[in-house]
Amino acid sequence: MQKPTDWKGMECLGWKSGIKTVRISSPIWLPLLLSATLLTSGCIAPPKRLASPPPPANRSPFWWGTATSSYQNEDRGELPGSPDFFQTDWDLFAEEGRTPKRGEEATFSWTHFEEDLKALKKLGVNHFRFSVEWARVEPCPGVINQKALQRYAEMARRLKMAGIEPIVTLWHLTFPSWLYDRRHRHHANFLHPDVLPAWQAYVRRTVQALDPWVSTYVPMNEPNGSLKLGYVAGHWPPGLLLRPFAYKRAMRAAVTMFRDAARIIREEDPGALVMGVYSLPDWRKSPLQDPTNAVYHAMLHSNFDHLDQVYDQCDIIGVNYYYSQEANILRFLRRDRGEAGSNYTQMGWEIRPEGLHDVLLRVHRRYGKPIVVSENGLGTLSEQKKIRYLREHISQMRRAMADGVVVRGYFPWTLVDNYEWKEGWKVNFGLTSMNPRTRERIIEPSGLWFRDFIRKFPEP
Ligand code: BGC
Repeated sequence: MQKPTDWKGMECLGWKSGIKTVRISSPIWLPLLLSATLLTSGCIAPPKRLASPPPPANRSPFWWGTATSSYQNEDRGELPGSPDFFQTDWDLFAEEGRTPKRGEEATFSWTHFEEDLKALKKLGVNHFRFSVEWARVEPCPGVINQKALQRYAEMARRLKMAGIEPIVTLWHLTFPSWLYDRRHRHHANFLHPDVLPAWQAYVRRTVQALDPWVSTYVPMNEPNGSLKLGYVAGHWPPGLLLRPFAYKRAMRAAVTMFRDAARIIREEDPGALVMGVYSLPDWRKSPLQDPTNAVYHAMLHSNFDHLDQVYDQCDIIGVNYYYSQEANILRFLRRDRGEAGSNYTQMGWEIRPEGLHDVLLRVHRRYGKPIVVSENGLGTLSEQKKIRYLREHISQMRRAMADGVVVRGYFPWTLVDNYEWKEGWKVNFGLTSMNPRTRERIIEPSGLWFRDFIRKFPEP
């Protein structure tokens, strides 16, 4: 498969957490893109409201946390040739030149977890979400790195001892390299013939290792966003462009994986909580360019298509909210503007704090489950802007709570400036930054603001 830039004049740009920005040089692809969006989203009608039980009340203490992910933060810590050396699909995708290289070090969260812990204590959070790297635990099919599993358990224990409740994500967007093959993208990752049994074994082993210290698990981070970007936009691994049927099959596999994980987690630890975490942008109607609301409804479906099939397995729903966007095809034509406008982030995302309120209300009405704002934040070089963003979004979360939404926690993304997938090292989401010499995390003004805020308002 050629790069998207070479693909008959079409280039996808800035797709992130759902369908976002696509630059198209030939109008011939417009109808194609629209039909693919509709086909993959499966409808033009508004998504139905699902029957939901009455929501349980807000409960103390509120979860103030922050989050990271293994691939974005961990150094590899293994040399090529060592039996524990591993690679992920993202490493291979980067070797193909389709995404920036992460490097071997990231933010040293594997060999210098201590630095993360120190920073978390300084911030004063009571929860921390991090993820386990499947490829590290299983560098080759069926070969288990017990030391790595023990180390993840030790991280969770250290957090717990420090009064910080660990929340563990079992899959944060990366697959082991042995499930990825660029010559057979239609059989890669979610579509690999061995993915389901391998996933079940990995989940069971990991939950068994973490069980003494962990009681909240996220089976998968944003499967909805990853599927769109990997099987429709061609932007993330496995890099398939406009492949609605592959998308549908991958969706089926991702739903099965989630349901299997939830079952295994409960078999291993009947008291554990299962949290589904989704990319949920605030889509706005665009009466002039989308008069029938077809695109708008398709975008709403892309928020909920996976979750609708697993919400019965979720004790908590995690809302990853970053931005608002008009749902219209012309919007896809525009290039990312970067942080040029004061209301945009380094990712080119439009800032709309009220969008968080609206998304929370929508999720509450649709599923009637407790919610955690599991990611919220922006990439910016302006700490002032970051503080304003956090303050305004927290205030919209409180507004939603006053409107009856049960919100149990809030996690700004992210602990420390890290590797940002397609954007590489160019964006600054962190509450802290890293001193590259000492690996120490330097608490940024936004981190200090967050620390003071949660001290002052332990219950929002
Ligand atoms: C992902 C993170 C990512 C963040 C900011 C979320 O979609 O879970 O991995 O860094 O958004 O783009």
